[in-house]
Amino acid sequence: MINKTDNLNNNNNQNVPNHIAIIMDGNGRWANQRNIPRSLGHRAGVEALKNIVKKSADIGIKYLTLFAFSTENWNRPEKEVSALMKLLKEFLKKESIRLHKNGVKITVIGDITLFSDELINQITKVEEMTKMNKKLTLSIALNYGGRNEITRAVKKIIENNYKVEDIDEHIINQNLDTKGIPDPDLLIRTSGEYRLSNFLLWQCAYTEFWFTDILWPDFTPMDLENAIKGYQNRERRFGSVK
Ligand code: IPE
Ligand code: IPE
Ligand code: MG
Repeated sequence: MINKTDNLNNNNNQNVPNHIAIIMDGNGRWANQRNIPRSLGHRAGVEALKNIVKKSADIGIKYLTLFAFSTENWNRPEKEVSALMKLLKEFLKKESIRLHKNGVKITVIGDITLFSDELINQITKVEEMTKMNKKLTLSIALNYGGRNEITRAVKKIIENNYKVEDIDEHIINQNLDTKGIPDPDLLIRTSGEYRLSNFLLWQCAYTEFWFTDILWPDFTPMDLENAIKGYQNRERRFGSVK
């Protein structure tokens, strides 16, 4: 039987994006449509996420960055924020071993200092356990905002007493949370919203964008394939001429 992923595989040099970033949006509307609590929409979103991580590893994507909680998401009702934190803990507890076995390196971007000690410990342990894995780097954006990240990078640069003449784009890159991670080739946003909502502002300078009306819990591996096929039809010029 022909493996369905055969025609979309990095190893076959098929121009599969090296780094995909996803704004997983629409969990709340998905739940509203079903007259169920928003927290159940987020739970369904985690199931979609698991399938997408697996598919990404299967087709040879090397970096996957997922927007899970923004610096602005603290403005949601306390009940929703705590449901999201609970889901996050559950995900790290239940999924990290399996991901580790499958060669996934898990990293977190964003300012996690605001989280509970318990959650910070959990994140640190998972990052430490998976740090040597090479198959796929899964970055989870938690309390992440692009402006917050750039602000923290500026602070780090000043604290480290860099000389003004030494500051260049490389130094700024090195002080961002995404240090060591290449810029996204493709950014996907679900749920029919056409905005960045403060995600990867610096890193998306030349990223290709793919928007879809599908709500995140309904986003399947086949939809990921479609987005990649769309990406493969783009001509990236990086300001040059072809
Ligand atoms: C995205 O879904 C998940 C998070 C922001 C945590 P939303 O919760 O934003 O869903 P909508 O946009 O209200 O439908
Ligand atoms: C962006 O979605 C954040 C995440 C997906 C985690 P939001 O739903 O928070 O963004 P806005 O408020 O619609 O811009
Ligand atoms: Mg939303």
